[in-house]
Amino acid sequence: MSILLETKNLTAGYKGMVVINKIDICLEKNEIVAIVGPNGSGKTTILRSLVGILDEYGGEIYEGNIFFKGKKINGKKPYELLHLGIVFVPDSGRVFRSMSVFENLEMGGFIIREKKKLMRKIEEVLELFPILKELLNRRAGNLSAGERQILSLGKALVLEPEVLILDEPSAGLSPNYVKILFEKLKEIKNKSGIIVVEQNAKIVLEYADRGYVIRNGEIKLEGKSKELLEKEDIFKLL
Ligand SMILES: Nc1ncnc2c1ncn2[C@@H]1O[C@H](COP(=O)(O)OP(=O)(O)O)[C@@H](O)[C@H]1O
Ligand SMILES: [Mg+2]
Repeated sequence: MSILLETKNLTAGYKGMVVINKIDICLEKNEIVAIVGPNGSGKTTILRSLVGILDEYGGEIYEGNIFFKGKKINGKKPYELLHLGIVFVPDSGRVFRSMSVFENLEMGGFIIREKKKLMRKIEEVLELFPILKELLNRRAGNLSAGERQILSLGKALVLEPEVLILDEPSAGLSPNYVKILFEKLKEIKNKSGIIVVEQNAKIVLEYADRGYVIRNGEIKLEGKSKELLEKEDIFKLL
């Protein structure tokens, strides 16, 4: 058992208002952890805290700590966290729309200085997502929502993250793409740990190992995905 990421008593919000309260979550290597909960419950705020971008949204961590492999990482800048191997994919799959698919993958690996290594990493991502191979020269802005979401994930994977953090990756995707996406996450977890936020608990808990149910900024339920799915309460909370 090796814990990659952990929060203790994490309390944060915006302009003095508490939005997430005393959050304790952890992520181990080789697991997919789901955070589910209704709209506005604080899921994105948790992720913003984890990846050091809360201040960009006028937010702040008021209390508590975040640890990466036992070391405190509160206050670290996003690029420092990237170097540590913590990579974030924000909601609705951000890509550089005016750039080609290939250029997007290059941008994803911008912190890799060595060109040869970057090309090797891009090659690996293309092996994982053959669908992107056929789209390499297409302008990202012209892709379908599903293709863009896959690109956005591919872009994150160029860095071979140890911790991959995804905000609602299935939003707006057809069931077929949702399946592709989660099947890929299951492959990727062999080399990393993954935190995935979703509104749709049913789908994500089918693929995740464990889950947290959050409501009004607090964790109301947690446990193994199978156990959570068997609880009647869970769907009342969503
Ligand atoms: N930049 C912001 N400034 C002020 N309040 C915000 C900001 N972003 C989110 N909030 C508020 O924080 C609460 C939680 O939002 P969020 O973390 O986005 O929830 P979720 O991702 O679960 O939908 C909501 O009430 C939302 O309005
Ligand atoms: Mg959100």
